[in-house]
Amino acid sequence: MRLLQKLEQKNTVLQKYIDYRGSLHHLELKGKVSNRMIFEGKEYIVWCLNDYLGLMHHSESITAAAQATSEFGPSYPHSVRLTIGHTEAHNYLETQLSNFMGTEDSMLVNLGYQGFMSIIDALTDRHDTIVYDQKCHACLMDGVRLHNGRKFAFKHNDINHLETQLQRAQKNHRPESGMIIVIVDGLYSMHGELAKLDEIVRLKKQYNFSLFVDDSHAFGVFGQNGKGSPEHFDVEEEIDVYVSTFTKSFGNLGGFVTAKKPIIDYLRFATRSQIFSRSMPLPMVLSVSKNLEIFLREPQRRQKLWENTIRFQEGLRSLDINIGLTQSPIVPIQINGSHQDGLKVFFDLRAMGIFSYIVAYPVVEKNTCLIRMVCTHNHTQQDIDETLSVFKTLKERYPRSLSASQIDQSVHKGF
Ligand SMILES: Cc1ncc(COP(=O)(O)O)c(C=O)c1O
Repeated sequence: MRLLQKLEQKNTVLQKYIDYRGSLHHLELKGKVSNRMIFEGKEYIVWCLNDYLGLMHHSESITAAAQATSEFGPSYPHSVRLTIGHTEAHNYLETQLSNFMGTEDSMLVNLGYQGFMSIIDALTDRHDTIVYDQKCHACLMDGVRLHNGRKFAFKHNDINHLETQLQRAQKNHRPESGMIIVIVDGLYSMHGELAKLDEIVRLKKQYNFSLFVDDSHAFGVFGQNGKGSPEHFDVEEEIDVYVSTFTKSFGNLGGFVTAKKPIIDYLRFATRSQIFSRSMPLPMVLSVSKNLEIFLREPQRRQKLWENTIRFQEGLRSLDINIGLTQSPIVPIQINGSHQDGLKVFFDLRAMGIFSYIVAYPVVEKNTCLIRMVCTHNHTQQDIDETLSVFKTLKERYPRSLSASQIDQSVHKGF
């Protein structure tokens, strides 16, 4: 079999999705997308941006990026960090991040996905054992896939199973030549639930492992000061490697890792995706730096995000709509039924002016599907109330698909 023939077979399976190009995926956007947007001439309320704090379009952040672009071009500096891809602004943002997080040092990565995958690769060798949550983000999974030592998945957020896997990991493990490292997301992006960092950390002494947390969805959102899930659980000191993207709360591109200085010193030389790929462009760096300043001086953004989240989620719950066990601004509308049932609700939402997206297997468990909605700072009370009124109508139209009380509890087995 040759390539084209092989892909023709795969595309036959994908055909039902390919046909939705432009309506379900690969939408051709033409204007600004915030809490509202115009799509194909019609106005929609948008519930699928991870711009939690509404910083994506902040004028100061845009000005910072625009000035740098007009002076240096959109992609300066033109090389990798180790050679001539490093600027004072990159340094400054790393210092800002370390100061904010209270850590010894930080390193920017040009994209969260390739950065985090590659950090896992850099930190581990064949003598090490990785124990990871089976629902970790795809970039962490790819990092684990690169690992040529032992690896054990534990059932999602199941601490008893984590302990079982740690016991297995300890067997034949030689602590003098390798480590055990546990990898989790701080907040899981599809169902919106937190990792149980307090319980995970309690196992650290007994099983002597290092802990890696991808906090992309909790950074800026959770914790008294917005330092994410470790601050929320008061376990900051116990996190050995903390990573987050800037594409969520900080409304931009790129990401960072923060940790003790020797770890960051090592990563600067060992993270292949950052050594062999260009650094984060200066306009992005300056704009994230500005967003961090705004974030620090406007804590009310986080407060408004949470007020919106509570208003929206309470409204949905009072309609008896199943939003699972979310603990965050991520609102998974769980469909009690097939993907086809989900699509009916989804396209009716669209027809009634609500923009969101539908998530099916393999992103969530087989035979389940959800409509993922995300609350942000920018949503207004009117946006929320209009959306709730649409859901009220849809609940009457699709009582079985949307009902919380009728949901098959097996859907929740992942929690
Ligand atoms: C948990 C998590 N980690 C990493 C990433 C990748 O980040 P980036 O968009 O910066 O590549 C994402 C993005 O969706 C994410 O949700």
